Amino acid sequence: MPAKKPAKPLSEEQDRERRLAWFREARYGMFIHWGLYSQLGRHEWVMNRERIPLAEYEKLADTWKPGPWPARKWAKLAKQAGQRYMVMTTKHHEGFCLFDSELTDYNAARRGPGRDLVAEYVEACRAEGLRVGFYYSLMDWHHPDGALCAKNDKSRRRFVDYIHGQIRELLTNYGKIDIMWYDVSWPLDAAGWESEKMNKMVLELQPDIIINNRNQLPGDFGTPEEHIVAEQRMWEACMTFNGSWGYGPIEPEYRSARQVLGMLRQVAAGGGNLLLNCGPAPDGTIPPPQPKILKQVGEWLGKYGESIYTATDPMEQEWTFLGAFTRKGNTLYYHVNRWPGTDFSIGGLHCTIESARIMGGKKLKVKQEKDRVLLQGVPAEAPDPLVTVIELKFSGEPKQTLGAGCVILPKDPWGKTTA
Ligand code: GLC
Repeated sequence: MPAKKPAKPLSEEQDRERRLAWFREARYGMFIHWGLYSQLGRHEWVMNRERIPLAEYEKLADTWKPGPWPARKWAKLAKQAGQRYMVMTTKHHEGFCLFDSELTDYNAARRGPGRDLVAEYVEACRAEGLRVGFYYSLMDWHHPDGALCAKNDKSRRRFVDYIHGQIRELLTNYGKIDIMWYDVSWPLDAAGWESEKMNKMVLELQPDIIINNRNQLPGDFGTPEEHIVAEQRMWEACMTFNGSWGYGPIEPEYRSARQVLGMLRQVAAGGGNLLLNCGPAPDGTIPPPQPKILKQVGEWLGKYGESIYTATDPMEQEWTFLGAFTRKGNTLYYHVNRWPGTDFSIGGLHCTIESARIMGGKKLKVKQEKDRVLLQGVPAEAPDPLVTVIELKFSGEPKQTLGAGCVILPKDPWGKTTA
C-alpha cells in the first residue's frame, strides 16, 4: 500500500478557524466573577477603589468559606439558560487564586476555602457538557512585583515568570480547556509580558484552545465590554447583569429577560457571542433575580433558538420601532419587541416575500407592495409575552433599507437609484 501522504500543516489562519469552529456556533456563555471581593459586595475593584491596604484585604483570604460545590448549580443553570460555555475568574486583579498553585499560598486550596475551586468548576462544566473557559488577570495587586515590574527589569523577570508559570499550571492541571481569557495587561506592553511566548505556550499545552485579545496581542477573538458592536472577525461581547462583575447586592437594577434577548439578537445579527456575567455571593449562590431571568431566556431559546444560534448571516437593516432581524440565507427572523396588534407591516424589505409564519405558531397571509410587506391575520395580542419571532421567507437574499424619505424613485422598485 502506498504510504499515506502526510497532511499539509494548516496555515495560522486555517488553524484559528479550526479552533474557533465551536465558538462560532456557541453564541451564549456564562461569565462568573467570584473571589475575595465577593465578601464585600462592592464591585471587584473594591480593593483599588476604596484604597484598602493589602494587609487588611488579605484577611479576606481566611474568612472566605464558600458553600459546597456551587459550580454544579451554576453549570446546571447555564445549561437551562441555553448557554453553551462558561468562563470563570481563576484569579482577578486582587491576585487571589481560586486554584491550587505551587507559586503562591494566596490561593483557595491553602486558605479559607480549603479546596481548589477551579477544579470544582471544571468538573461541573464537563458534567453539563459545557465548554470550559479560564479568565486570568495579568494585572495583579497582590504580587510585590505587580506594579514594580514596569520600573525594574529584575522585578519584571520575576513577575512575568510568575504569570507565565501560573498560566502553565492552569493549562496543565485540569485537562482540556477551551478558552484562555486574559484580562487587564497593566502595567506592561506586549514585549514586557512576552505575550508572543505566552500564547505559544498556551497553544502548546492546549492545541485546541482559543485565546482572547487582552494580553496586547490580537489573539483569536475580540472582547467588546459592556457594549455590543460587531467586529470584522470573531468577537464576544461581555456584559454585566447589573453593572458590577463581582457580587453587587446593593445595585438593584438588573437587565430583564427582554433585554438579555435583545442582546442575544444583536450578537447573533453581528455573528458574535454574548458572555453574560453572574456574580455569585460569597457562599456561591447566584442571587435573585438572575436565575429566574436566565431560565426565562432559556425557555425562550428552547422555542425560538433557531433564530439566534444559527441565524448569523450578515444583513443590511435599519432600525424600526417594532423590532429587529436576524437572517439565515433567504429567511429573516423578525424579533418583535413591541406588538402592534393586527395592523402589521414592515417597510424597506428588498426582495419578494414567499411566506410568513409566527415561529412555533400559525402561518400568516402576506401581501407585498413594493418594499412594504403587510402581514395579515396576526393576533391582536403578542403570542409571546417576551419577544415574538416572525419567520419571513423570501425568494432571494433579503435586505432592509429605508433611508429618510418616503418616496421610491421610479424605475427602481427596490429603492436603489441609478442616477
Ligand atoms: C474589566 C475589569 C474587570 C472585569 C473585566 C470583564 O477589564 O477590570 O473587573 O473583570 O473587565 O471583562
